[in-house]
Amino acid sequence: MNEEFERKLDELARLVTHAKHTVLFGGAGMSTESGLADFRSAVSGLYNNKEFYGYSAERILSREFFEEHPEIMFNFYRTELLNLDARPNLAHFALAWMEEKGMLSSIITQNGDALHQRAGSRKVFDLHGNVYKNTCLKCGKSHDVRRVKYCEGIPYCECGGIIRPGIVLFGETPDPDVIFGCVREIAQCDLLIAAGTSLRVSSAGRLLDRFKGTLVILNNDETALDDRADLIVRGKMGEIFSALWERLKKYERDTARD
Ligand code: OAD
Repeated sequence: MNEEFERKLDELARLVTHAKHTVLFGGAGMSTESGLADFRSAVSGLYNNKEFYGYSAERILSREFFEEHPEIMFNFYRTELLNLDARPNLAHFALAWMEEKGMLSSIITQNGDALHQRAGSRKVFDLHGNVYKNTCLKCGKSHDVRRVKYCEGIPYCECGGIIRPGIVLFGETPDPDVIFGCVREIAQCDLLIAAGTSLRVSSAGRLLDRFKGTLVILNNDETALDDRADLIVRGKMGEIFSALWERLKKYERDTARD
C-alpha cells in the first residue's frame, strides 16, 4: 500500500472515531467481491456493452418492460441478479462490527442482495428493495425467494397472480417508509460514507444533496459527487475496509486500556 492510501485511511479512521452519527451509503461495488456484478463498471457492469435477449439491462429492469415481457425480465433477473450463493465479504463484516461497536449508526444500501443483513448489520435501509421479499401481485401473499429462483419462466402464486420480486424497477418509487427512514438518518448524521457506488442514480443524488456534514467517498472509480467530497479513497472495497478495520480495532484496544 502506498503512503497516500495509508494517510487517507488514518484520516478516515479518525473521522469515524470522532463522528457522532455515521451512516454508510452503499452500492453495487460493496458486493462485487462477493461475486455479484455491478451496473456501471466499464467492462463488467451489467449496463455496459451487453445485451440480454436483445435488450439492454437498463430496459429490462424497468416497470414498463416487466409489464410487457415478464418472462424475459424473470429470466434476466434469475441469471444476472439473483445469486443465492453469494456470501458477505470482508467489507460487509467490517461494517457489521462497526455497528456493534457503536461506530456506525446505519447503512443505506442501493443493493437488494441483503448481504449486509447476512453479515450481521441490524439497521439497514434497502433503498432499492430486497430480493428476499417476494409477494403476489394479486393476493399479496409472501413467497420464499427459492420459488422465484427455481421455477421456469414466470413464478405464479397459487391464486394465479404473478410473484413480484421485491426490488425497485426503473419507473417505480422506492417505499416511502424506507425513503423517510433514509432522509431521517441523513439529516441526523455528521459523517456520511458513500462506498462502492457511482452515485449516478437520481434517488442517491436527491438524498445526498440534503447532506451538509463530512462526506467521504470510497470507490475505485470516479463518482458523480467527487467534487463535493471532503475525503476520497480510491481502491478495492476489501483493501479499504481491511485497512480501516485494522485501525478501528487498534483504536478500540487503545481506548479500552485508557
Ligand atoms: P454502479 O455500478 O453504478 O456503481 C458501482 C461503483 O462501484 C462503480 O463506480 C465501480 O467502479 C465501483 N466498484 C465496483 N466494484 C468495486 C470494488 N470491489 N471496490 C471498489 N469499488 C468498486 O452501482 P450503484 O451506484 O450501486 O438500481 O448503482 C445504483 C443503482 O443503479 C442500482 O441500485 C440499480 C442501478 O440501476 C436499481 O436496480 C433500481
